[in-house]
Amino acid sequence: MRLRAFSARCSMNPASVIAIPSELLRALRRARFVAVLTGAGISAESGVATFRDAQTGLWTRFDPRELATPSAFARNPKRVWDWYAWRRERVASVEPNAGHRALVELERRVPEFLLITQNVDGLHQRAGSRKLVELHGNIARVKCSREGTIVENWSAEASEVPRCANCGAFLRPDVVWFEELLPEHALAAAEDAARRCEVLLVIGTSAEVYPAAGLPTLAQEHGGLVVEVNPNETPLSARADYVLRGASGAALPRLVSASWMP
Ligand code: APR
Repeated sequence: MRLRAFSARCSMNPASVIAIPSELLRALRRARFVAVLTGAGISAESGVATFRDAQTGLWTRFDPRELATPSAFARNPKRVWDWYAWRRERVASVEPNAGHRALVELERRVPEFLLITQNVDGLHQRAGSRKLVELHGNIARVKCSREGTIVENWSAEASEVPRCANCGAFLRPDVVWFEELLPEHALAAAEDAARRCEVLLVIGTSAEVYPAAGLPTLAQEHGGLVVEVNPNETPLSARADYVLRGASGAALPRLVSASWMP
């Protein structure tokens, strides 16, 4: 399935004290398999811009058609390369937050777990998450734009876009651009987890970009409970079984501690 949907619309509300229903805590404690879907919002409290938040979102400041499509790279590889280099530096300069760390704790607590992230920032891995699939790639990796092979050694200092030592084609970030296919193994693992999990936490995503935004429906169709964690309303809010309306950096540590360390 190809990555779809451009839009720039939603605003951030301050975190409030989040009431967590006791039946949700019970469901989480009893769950044999918990899956988690994350989006840019979980990294917001680390200082990484989301894509669609009003004013601060990347797509409210930059045009994704000029920076995040194969045709944009073909038209102007240097502009695209430099923009990802700027984001890569930004991500390298920040730290995971309490939301990321709470998911590491959750991974430790449940028998079976999978973290499905749309984020390319690598902050989950830096926090210590291990059972994880990246649906949209990772900004720290670079690959040959023709052969698709990951390239370990490349110069970030180069004034020109570096080229593949094997075929001479430009190197590009190993991220999924709009109109591109998601990595098959990651999508298959994500869909399998959505079908088999008892609880799916959906954290910090505007739930507008498919195929990731289809995972909550898949979970519910197979009897899974969907829990949205987001300070703002999304298209998923009305369909979710539970909504924790607040920032993930506050909501997730509370959810994990209330479930296992009451
Ligand atoms: N805690 C939890 N959620 C938050 C927080 C926070 N502190 N701050 C903002 N949010 C929420 C916003 O309310 C919004 O719903 O995070 C969401 C971010 O949405 P987007 O910016 O659309 O990011 P995401 O859903 O990850 O985008 C999906 O689109 O641009 C492509 O490939 C890119 O992976 C990305 C995909």
